[in-house]
Amino acid sequence: MAVQISPSILSADFARLAEEAAAVESAADWLHVDVMDNHFVPNLTLGLPVVESLLRHAKLPVDCHLMIEDPDRHAPPFAEAGAGSVTVHAEAVKAPVRTLRAIRAAGARSGLAVNPGTAIESYDDLLPEIDMLLLMTVEPGFGGQKFLDLVMPKLRRARSMVAKRGGSVWLQVDGGVSAETIERCAEAGADVFVAGSAVYGADDPAKAVRALREQAETATAHAAWAAGR
Ligand code: DX5
Ligand code: ZN
Repeated sequence: MAVQISPSILSADFARLAEEAAAVESAADWLHVDVMDNHFVPNLTLGLPVVESLLRHAKLPVDCHLMIEDPDRHAPPFAEAGAGSVTVHAEAVKAPVRTLRAIRAAGARSGLAVNPGTAIESYDDLLPEIDMLLLMTVEPGFGGQKFLDLVMPKLRRARSMVAKRGGSVWLQVDGGVSAETIERCAEAGADVFVAGSAVYGADDPAKAVRALREQAETATAHAAWAAGR
């Protein structure tokens, strides 16, 4: 699977979301939308009504990252509203099989996210229910945090776990992904890259996306895990 870039609007101007979405549409693959409820994480962003409005304006498919409690109840409506991908946290979901299936049944790709301190091994059996595994490379809740290198060994293990299952699950990294860190993420096995401050903090967000993609593609071309792809 080719490199995909998903700019996070968490670092965009929330009063101008449609314009901020349009600013990356020529360069990005997805628009990453961070839904935070002030319970699962200590920050509050936006919910379903704002996502519904954004879906009416955004040309890119929307990649919803739900950092919320009770995703079993709240996640399927994001898929029903038309999000292209809906990701729930392993630490919050109570019935992952039912919830991931409900997301798929509503027509979205199903995602499972894990915090930096959460092991992935216990989710191996769930992989057939998952279209994308999201490895958080910061503690979730805020943009602009420092990338956590301690996640790198887990990213390598995730890539081999996915490869054993045929390699169709996308591996997303989120948090501190920038020009300094994207190459090592690609080299370790990530293929979908979320970037907030590295994109929306740049003078030209679309140009920043193109530069990140180029770096990730070059690193992937040299990566052992991607050999023969
Ligand atoms: C953090 C969010 C991220 C955030 C990343 O909890 O999930 O998507 O926007 O921001 P940067 O790229 O600035 O670390
Ligand atoms: Zn996110």
